[in-house]
Amino acid sequence: MSDGAKPDGGPAVNPAVSPAVSLENGPKLVLRPATAEDLPAIMALETSVFGAEAWSEEAMRRDMSDANCVYIVAEGTSAEQGMPEILAYAGLLCPPGSGDGDIQTIAVAPEARGLGLGRALMLVLLQRAEERRADRLFLEVRADNDVAKALYESLGFEEIAVRPHYYQPEGVDAIVMRREETLRPKRSATVGSEVLS
Ligand SMILES: CC(C)(COP(=O)(O)OP(=O)(O)OC[C@H]1O[C@@H](n2cnc3c(N)ncnc32)[C@H](O)[C@@H]1OP(=O)(O)O)[C@@H](O)C(=O)NCCC(=O)NCCS
Repeated sequence: MSDGAKPDGGPAVNPAVSPAVSLENGPKLVLRPATAEDLPAIMALETSVFGAEAWSEEAMRRDMSDANCVYIVAEGTSAEQGMPEILAYAGLLCPPGSGDGDIQTIAVAPEARGLGLGRALMLVLLQRAEERRADRLFLEVRADNDVAKALYESLGFEEIAVRPHYYQPEGVDAIVMRREETLRPKRSATVGSEVLS
């Protein structure tokens, strides 16, 4: 994780990537770089959302601590309980200078979906990829994941290939999508009434 605290206790550079924003009728949110302390909450979301396809904790830790990766979390603070809670996360692999990047993962807690959070996280990752001079971004998505495909298409990703039976054990195809640097998002992100990018 290049922008946050290192899991080995290295220097903590952890600027928030957005000011606190409010979901309509929901908690206040901060989008910020993930830290090693977020791993348990990220894994809880990862396993509940992706089930058998979830990454292992070790794989997630490795990716989050990779200097070529950028991981962002959306942290909400419930007004009633006052406890911070990770409501979403997303990761990008983008070695500076390589020209390419991969959206590694994105997940939003079921209760926080449909409010613009997924789009907001994606726009932060696109911005980070641009800062790293990536001309092309790639991702893979299950062929039956219409919500995610709609999100990616609205951000300028286009289908370029199919990997048959990629997701096991169900045997669902993977759609490979690519976004060229010249393609711009068709829409900007809003969470509640605040524009994030
Ligand atoms: C995919 C996911 C990240 C989207 O996050 P989200 O916060 O719900 O999405 P947003 O509210 O930002 O909506 C972004 C776009 O997604 C699409 N979308 C969102 N909810 C949708 C729904 N119920 N039906 C159809 N499209 C939908 C729309 O294109 C939407 O744009 P619009 O609101 O301008 O129409 C979220 O549904 C999720 O975590 N799913 C489970 C994990 C997953 O599938 N990850 C992707 C793996 S490749």
